[in-house]
This record gives sequence, structure tokens and C-alpha cells, in this order.
Amino acid sequence: MAAFERILYEVEEGVAIITLNRPEKRNCMNPTMHHEMVQVLDELAADPETKVLVLTGAGDSWCAGQDLREYFRGLDHATPAEKERASWAAQEWRWRRLNKFPKPTIAMVNGYCFGGGFTQLIACDFAIAADDAIFGLSEVNWGIYPGGMVSRALAEALNLRKAIYYIMTGDTFDGKEAEAIGLVTKSVPRERLREETVALAKKLMSKNLATLRACKEVYKTVKSMDYEQAE
Ligand code: ACO
Repeated sequence: MAAFERILYEVEEGVAIITLNRPEKRNCMNPTMHHEMVQVLDELAADPETKVLVLTGAGDSWCAGQDLREYFRGLDHATPAEKERASWAAQEWRWRRLNKFPKPTIAMVNGYCFGGGFTQLIACDFAIAADDAIFGLSEVNWGIYPGGMVSRALAEALNLRKAIYYIMTGDTFDGKEAEAIGLVTKSVPRERLREETVALAKKLMSKNLATLRACKEVYKTVKSMDYEQAE
């Protein structure tokens, strides 16, 4: 597999761990990272050694959202084709590829999760967070709204009062609150984060992987159907 600039990955005993790797920028996402993520997801989807995928961040941050300088302002000066490519890659890996990834996916949230980082958080099948991870729908502070897919998924995952509160105030909350409101599967003490994530991955690997793929595809597909269509 190609060497990457902005991400790291390792595959060990069936578990592929991808790490967003710009800790000095709190792993905010620039166009290079988006293009690399499309490529690595493509490769790991077809990799027979990879049974479960884990997504995490280097240092004390999971993902501080889009890179306000390089993704937003930087692209103001790009050609229309570069802009199109970057926004395609950003959407492609965070939503379409991850949401439909053919193997189970786990977000291992080790720290800050802001703004655009919610897209990949919600696209993963499971999310295990450190109790002291910090979440924030900070878009409102930048004069924008959470993107359509994030708002759509929040409308499903959270109740109305919680979703509207965090979307409209931009207030931050920790991993325990994220579990209480249904945004993550489980919140655990930081020192147990990796161990708990690997334990979940192993539990999943004890099932039939083709069946797991069907389980998630059917569930995610029927959600938008009525009963007759689902039948
Ligand atoms: N875009 C660009 N640069 C960023 C971002 C970002 N989203 N997040 C962090 N950085 C950079 C900072 O500018 C700083 O760079 P510098 O060292 O060159 O000055 C570096 O990362 C470290 O950031 P600090 O703020 O110094 O780190 P700290 O640990 O104190 O705080 C935190 C971390 C809370 C994540 C803070 O950086 C922050 O609030 N970032 C913005 C998060 C955000 O609102 N993201 C949503 C963007 S909108 C969207 O995604 C649609």
C-alpha cells in the first residue's frame, strides 16, 4: 500500500487501525487527508487481512473538523476542478465509503471531535469514546450549519431537544454525555479505550463476516423505507 502523509494505518490480527495524523493541528482535515482516506478505505475494503476497521486520531484529538484554513479558505484560491475534487473526496470517504464499508467499523474517539468530524463519527457502525473526549457541533460559531448528512443523522440518533440544543448553542459535551444521549455506543475511561475497542472488534470477528455485512446493509437501507418496501 502507498505511503501516506496525513494518515497512518496498521493491520494486526484482523483489526485495521487508521489514525488521522496531524496531531499538531488536532487532526483537522485538509484536502490531502481526504484524498488519502478515499485511497486507504478502498484498499482496506479489499484487503483479506482486514476484518474490522477502527478509526482514531493521533495525540489528544480525534478530529477537529475541517481545516478552516486549508479546506475552506485555501480552496477559495483553487481551480474549480481542484475544489470539486476536494469536496468530492471529503464527502466520499466520510459518508459514502465509510457508511457502506463492507466490514464493521468502529470510531475510537480519543479526544476532540468537532464540526465536520461528526460525519465520520456517525458513519461508523460503532463509536467507543474516552470519558473525557470533548464533542462540539461548533459550526454555529463559524456562521455555518452542520452539513445535511450530519443533521439528518443527528435527527435520527438524538432526541429533538438534545440535537437542537447542541446544534444551536455549539456547547461542548464529554464522552459520558455522548453515551447518555445516544451519540456513541459506549464511553469508557481513557486508559481502557483501546482495550475496549479491540474487545468489541474481537466479538465482531467471532461472527460470520458476510452475515455482519448483510446485517448493517439491510438495517441502514430499510431505515428510510415503509414496511411494505422493507418486506
Ligand atoms: N482548522 C484549522 N486549524 C485548526 C483547527 C481547524 N478546525 N483546529 C485546530 N487547528 C489548529 C490551530 O489553529 C492551531 O494551529 P497553530 O499551532 O498553527 O496555531 C493548532 O491546530 C492547535 O490548536 P489549538 O487551538 O492551539 O489547540 P487546543 O488544544 O488549545 O484546542 C481545539 C483544540 C479545542 C480542537 C481547538 O483547536 C478548536 O476549537 N479548533 C476548532 C474546532 C472547530 O470548530 N472545528 C469545526 C470547523 S467547521 C467544520 O468542520 C465544518
